[in-house]
Order: sequence, then structure tokens, then C-alpha cells
Amino acid sequence: MTETVSPTTPPDGKARRPRTPRHREGKLPGRQDWSTWPHYQAAAAGFRGYWYPVCFADQVGERPHRVKLLGEDLFVIRDKGKLYGMKNRCPHRGVPLSNGNKQFPGAISCVYHGWTFDLETGDLVAAITDGPQSPICGKVTQPTYDVEERLGMVWVYVGDGEKPHPIDEQLPEELVSNPAVLGQRIQAREGNWRFAVENGYDEGHAKYLHRTALWRMFKPMPVWNTTRIVKRDRWIYRVQQEQHWTADFPGLGRWTGLAWYKAKPPKQATNIGNTSSHREVNPVIAAQEFPGFASVSMPGVLRIAYPTFIHYEFYVPVDADNHLYVGVMADFQKGLKTLPFYAKYLGAVRWLFHGQFSGQDKWMVEITDAPPEKLYRPDDSLLQWRKLAEDVTEDRLAALREQGLEPTEEASN
Ligand code: FES
Ligand SMILES: [Fe+2]
Repeated sequence: MTETVSPTTPPDGKARRPRTPRHREGKLPGRQDWSTWPHYQAAAAGFRGYWYPVCFADQVGERPHRVKLLGEDLFVIRDKGKLYGMKNRCPHRGVPLSNGNKQFPGAISCVYHGWTFDLETGDLVAAITDGPQSPICGKVTQPTYDVEERLGMVWVYVGDGEKPHPIDEQLPEELVSNPAVLGQRIQAREGNWRFAVENGYDEGHAKYLHRTALWRMFKPMPVWNTTRIVKRDRWIYRVQQEQHWTADFPGLGRWTGLAWYKAKPPKQATNIGNTSSHREVNPVIAAQEFPGFASVSMPGVLRIAYPTFIHYEFYVPVDADNHLYVGVMADFQKGLKTLPFYAKYLGAVRWLFHGQFSGQDKWMVEITDAPPEKLYRPDDSLLQWRKLAEDVTEDRLAALREQGLEPTEEASN
């Protein structure tokens, strides 16, 4: 049933705007699109101008390894240990070059007619079936990609023809400058990459959605808390202020994140780890002086700092409907001190955290359907992330224009 409120003429005689009809199912229509953040709205298939992890380093050998990234079909390959990346579509008749192989050192030959491209430059250096004097040679160049190896993974830069920034400028600073032992997981997931970032950074969901995860079984979770978002360098941080472990909801009753079998909550709000923690903080982590335990940076990197390790999530746009979830757990230790981490990672973390806990996130990202959306107080985290994406993209596009480069359509709309 629909209840309609008719326009009224108040005593002052001035007609007011007719009020929006109220529907039983909701009072306000909410945000219908993301046009407040036009770059973000346009970036359904990802933001250009970044390095993205695409697979484990040991998955790439002397044969082409096919990758889809930001809707682009490419392949990566090794030649004498060095990594190369190239657009996958053979310009001759459109057959994927990843079906071909190396017939000459440093070059890939298409499986169909043997067009052969230099891996470094992309130049067509031979068309085998037209002989050594083929006039097509030198007239065709296949687009190439910059590729790097870091954190045991292969990273590909997708840009607009600009010189890529050094990959180390984009990685979390503490991972570049400190030895760490890593536990990683790469998983192809359904859903838009932005839902994945927003899920990762969203203030509200962890305390509620994940309260049933085994990983959280013995750890108390606040019912709600107040948070401030603080920007420092490339990152925005969620800084926890008040934490409420139990709350009385008027007319409904009490709701709590505590239980007799869970650890006791801390007396004061903590900003290392999101649950009670009395453990000594690893010196590398302590030295970062993170303003808050959860932070995010472009192009969709989440960092959750715990006392003894840091968990990262890289959300990699495959296309508008799919992304790669890349989870990295880093323990800043070396030598024999790394052994307990391996035991902990393989014995528990891998299954409970990267597995079941993260599976709850995977499920939510698959079924999120927004916009439209009606945001609530804790979603300031989402608003600030979108603003960050918008501002950083503005700067990037300005820099491209200065170089006389045209951003591709999707990134500039
Ligand atoms: S389609 Fe690649 S060589 Fe003909
Ligand atoms: Fe989550």
C-alpha cells in the first residue's frame, strides 16, 4: 500500500514544494548513482596508471601465461628469466598470441601463420610463412606492457602510454623497506572490484558479518564504534575512537559482542588490530606509527595492521564483473624467526582467515548491488575512499594532459 502526502499551503501562504511520496518500503530514495565521483563511477573496469598483481611469479615460465586485466587481454612470459607482457590479440587475424610459443629467442610466434613479435619492443620481426623478406615486417608493432616481479608475484602496469612510476612507490612502504615472510593467496572472484575495496574498508561489516567466523570465535567484537578517517600520505586510515562492546537498543533489548568464552575487551580503544590485544607489537609495525589499524590506498589496496603481522588485500580489476582477490599476510621477521609464522600460516591462518573469514567477504561482494544505496554513519569510510580515488585520479589526468597524453575513454569520463 502506498501512502501519499499531498502538497499543503502553509499559513504564510507560500506554496511549498510537493513532498516526495513516501512509500512503505522506504522513506528516502537514497543515492541513485555515483555521479558525485565521476572518475570512480567510470572506473567499473579499474583505474589505469597502476601496477597490478596478476599471478604468482612461479606460474610464469617460457610459455605465454594469459591474463585479463582491466578488461584487456594480455599475456606474460619469461625469456632468459626476464618478464615481458604483450597484448594477446594477434593483429593479423585476431588469434590469441598466448596459443603460440617461442620459435626464436626473445620473440613470440603466433600459432596460426607464424607472425613473430619481439618481446621487448613488440615489433613484428618476422612473418615466418612469408619468408625472410616479408614486406609486412617493420610495419606492425604489437602493444607491450611493463612487467615486474615483487612479493613473489608478477605485476603488470596498465597505463595510457606514460612512463610507469616505479612499482616500489606504489607498494606499501613497510613491505619495500623491511624483510618479511609472506603468506599469499590469489583467488578469482565474481563481483566488481569496487565492491571488494568497499567491503574491505567498510567500517560496519566486520563486527557483524564476521562475528560468526571461526577466526573471530575467541575474540570479542565491538557492537559499534565511532571512527574518524585520517589521511596520511597515500593512505586514508580508520581511527577508532569510542568502542561499544554492549548496547541497549530501545524497545528491542541488549545486543553484545561479548561471550564467556571470548577474550576480554581492552579498556581503551586500540588502533592496532580490531579486537582486544595485549600483545607486544612487532618493532617494524610499531615504527610505522599507523594512525589507525585499517587503511586503504589507490588503486584498491587494503592494509590491516595487527600487533604481530600485517594483512594486505589487493583487489585487482579483471573486468567490470570480476576481480582477483590477492591476500598477503606479512610477518616482519627473518631467519629462524620465520618458522613460527609458517606453522601458524599453514596450520591456521590460511584456512581460517584467508579461507572461511575471507569467504564471507567474497559472498558479500558477489551479492552487493549498488547504486542505488542509502548510506549510514559508518559509511563515511566509503565516502572518504571514493573521494581519495576521485582526487588522485584528477591529479593523474592533469599530469597526463601536461605530457600531451590522452587518457582512454573509461578513465576520463
Ligand atoms: S593470426 Fe596470428 S599470424 Fe595469422
Ligand atoms: Fe570482511
